[in-house]
Amino acid sequence: MRRKIMIITGAVFLTLAMFSMAFAIGGGNPRKGKFLWRKNCRSCHSPEGSAGDLNPADKTQAEWQKLFESGNIPCKKDWTIGDGDQNDIYTYLHDFAKDSPTPAKCS
Ligand code: HEC
Repeated sequence: MRRKIMIITGAVFLTLAMFSMAFAIGGGNPRKGKFLWRKNCRSCHSPEGSAGDLNPADKTQAEWQKLFESGNIPCKKDWTIGDGDQNDIYTYLHDFAKDSPTPAKCS
């Protein structure tokens, strides 16, 4: 009986953990994110663009996380991409941030 309760409790916790991960940001596909960043964001965020150059290595991982978690990004209202795509872009920017093992400029 005790054993059964423990197994059920474990299963419930596992399910909850999986759900919370699905809704948290991060864990996206950074390769797809790079593609999406170039396609949807670089038009403005490049040296020639209206918003100026912006690269993963311009911010720390914590700074990218804060921006995307708060949603406090000046141009966000103009984005036409879905949440999954945003998460991929976030993952790309975060994984190649200034303090990541592989800081990247998007040339
Ligand atoms: C139509 C032009 C345009 C497009 C497209 C665009 N942005 Fe922006 N973005 C801006 C402008 C203008 C600002 C504000 C300028 C600034 O603060 O440097 C900005 C600011 C930002 C900032 C804050 C920069 C900072 O240093 O705080 C982030 C992050 C950002 N954009 C991400 C994105 C992402 C991700 C995409 C693609 C999904 C995107 N932008 C697409 C124009 C654009």
